[in-house]
Amino acid sequence: MNAPLTPGMVKDLNVPDHVTNAKLIAWVGDMVALCKPERVYWCDGSDAEYDRLCQQLVDAGTFKKLNPAKRPGSFLAWSDPSDVARVEDRTFICSEKQEDAGPTNNWTPPAEMRAKLEPLFDGCMRGRTMYVIPFSMGPLGSPIAHIGVELSDSAYVAVNMKLMTRMGKGAIDVLGDNGDFVPCVHTVGAPLAAGEKDQTSWPCNPDVKYIVHYPETREIWSYGSGYGGNALLGKKCFALRIASSMGRAEGWLAEHMLILGVTSPEGQKYHVAAAFPSACGKTNFSMLVPPTGFEGWKVTTIGDDIAWIKPRADGKLVAINPEAGYFGVAPGTNTLTNPNCMASLNENVIFTNVALTDDGDVWWEGMEKDQGALPAHLIDWQGHDWTPEDAKAGKKAAHPNARFTVGAGNNPALDPAWDDPAGVPIDAFIFGGRRSTTVPLVTEARNWQEGVYMAATMGSETTAAAFGAQGVVRRDPFAMLPFCGYNMADYFGHWLQMGEQLQAAGAQLPAIYCVNWFRKGEDGKFVWPGYGENMRVLKWIIDRAERRVAGEQTMFGIMPAYGEINWKGLAFTPEQFATVTRIDKAAWEQEFALHDELFAQLAQGLPAALPQTRQALQERLAAVA
Ligand code: GTP
Ligand code: SPV
Ligand code: MN
Repeated sequence: MNAPLTPGMVKDLNVPDHVTNAKLIAWVGDMVALCKPERVYWCDGSDAEYDRLCQQLVDAGTFKKLNPAKRPGSFLAWSDPSDVARVEDRTFICSEKQEDAGPTNNWTPPAEMRAKLEPLFDGCMRGRTMYVIPFSMGPLGSPIAHIGVELSDSAYVAVNMKLMTRMGKGAIDVLGDNGDFVPCVHTVGAPLAAGEKDQTSWPCNPDVKYIVHYPETREIWSYGSGYGGNALLGKKCFALRIASSMGRAEGWLAEHMLILGVTSPEGQKYHVAAAFPSACGKTNFSMLVPPTGFEGWKVTTIGDDIAWIKPRADGKLVAINPEAGYFGVAPGTNTLTNPNCMASLNENVIFTNVALTDDGDVWWEGMEKDQGALPAHLIDWQGHDWTPEDAKAGKKAAHPNARFTVGAGNNPALDPAWDDPAGVPIDAFIFGGRRSTTVPLVTEARNWQEGVYMAATMGSETTAAAFGAQGVVRRDPFAMLPFCGYNMADYFGHWLQMGEQLQAAGAQLPAIYCVNWFRKGEDGKFVWPGYGENMRVLKWIIDRAERRVAGEQTMFGIMPAYGEINWKGLAFTPEQFATVTRIDKAAWEQEFALHDELFAQLAQGLPAALPQTRQALQERLAAVA
């Protein structure tokens, strides 16, 4: 698209000797010609490089080094207030045909989008360094892994990618001379004029943002944001949107799922993959500490956000975590809700948009539960003084979507197989939204098709993880609404088809469960204690998988009888249990109407199995007194 490379330009590319992939070098050359950075830097992924870039971010004012006595090796960044979450309305799936993006994705024809982006990217890195960031999603060299290369003018992105992926020379070695990679171009969209210095410690473009995917050519172009999933392109853009589209073509699944291992006192090990929408408890569940009454049980983390799932030769579905770190929600995290997570955050962490304490440590809402009281004084995420008076006025010290970035190696509950290129076999899938009403604590689908129906029609109250209104119930099929890189109706079809094919080949599929930790009582409070106590539901799920309990048939799948759950160590009465498991007929009639709306929206290509299941469920509901 640009002037051809001249030998002089290649020299300016600073290509290190170990980079021999001609396609990569040519692409970087093209992108340098387009983005016109001041200089090019190839990341090697070493610890020394990480330290150097962090220091550079400190010098630029983007990072504050935290008190090494309190939080060794850790930094705090505050973003621009306009750049605090994913921008779903600025996220595009640009397939050739609109029907391949489907009605739930923003779509623009690729040629039109390229014409829009070309002038934006032209000179977008002026005055800045272009970081060449090679990374592997999945264990280096694993047959399930894929390589990406992100070009970014943000050092913050480079250091985050070091923690979140297998980044650097190892990925270059896997690429070799001829290996393939997903090209990811990222700019904060804030070029500097000659001699101009940044006026801000978080350069971004407050007005223009584009998060663009071309699934057919497997490219990612991101403009204007430096935050999270908008900018760390290996995560949602590659490992979910592009990968889901690859998975459809190649017979596998890329899912917004945590993966955990759970080991019984007898040493029996099970693996579960669970999809909850953004900021709905995946990190928490993946690091769960079993409560009193579960002595000898152990939960270990394989992944906290994304799963790539493929059928093994014997038909068993196995999963890997393509990531190598956690970019998790800070607010609400404390030693009561997630002790393993808190232990992961002791050192070598990048915090974004949490508050700063007077002794150079971090604070966020929820920590007062550990500390017994609110701190007397903080600097909030926007750099302003904050006192408990502000809390009374409802002013948060940390942004609700404030996050930590930390390598998986920090997690005391890390599963020994988390890095196994072969993946772990999945015994159960769990889907769960954030619903204050209607949806029961846990139900088991009677078969694959009913499970796909439950996942497809899942609703959830929106959270601060995405820009926009919060607490509004929307359909979030499979927790993938913002992340499916192709037509959602085809995605349902892909799930149904994979199930059918594996079953036809004699494979035993994982059972599918639907959970809701978030049902509220009349006082507006959560009835279910959640967090570690979710182990009680997890154990029932395993008991079901082993057919140790029968459950009870309901119109909406199989539910636990009160007596089938281990209540040791928790006072939770049958009445409370009834509150979180009750199926309200009128509420479900309304719920089905919302399912119908979703199916109407997705009518084109919607698999017939879904409206058929809907019909069967409604008939069951009608039969309920
Ligand atoms: P993403 O990283 O955005 O994909 O989110 P996630 O699903 O990993 O969310 P995370 O585990 O970070 O949960 C974020 C929020 O959910 C926090 O505010 C938690 O306090 C809350 N949360 C997690 N588990 C539970 C639970 O069992 N019950 C209740 N009531 N809240 C929970
Ligand atoms: C989510 O929103 O689901 C996240 C955070 O996991 S981000 O990487 O910003 O998308
Ligand atoms: Mn997520």
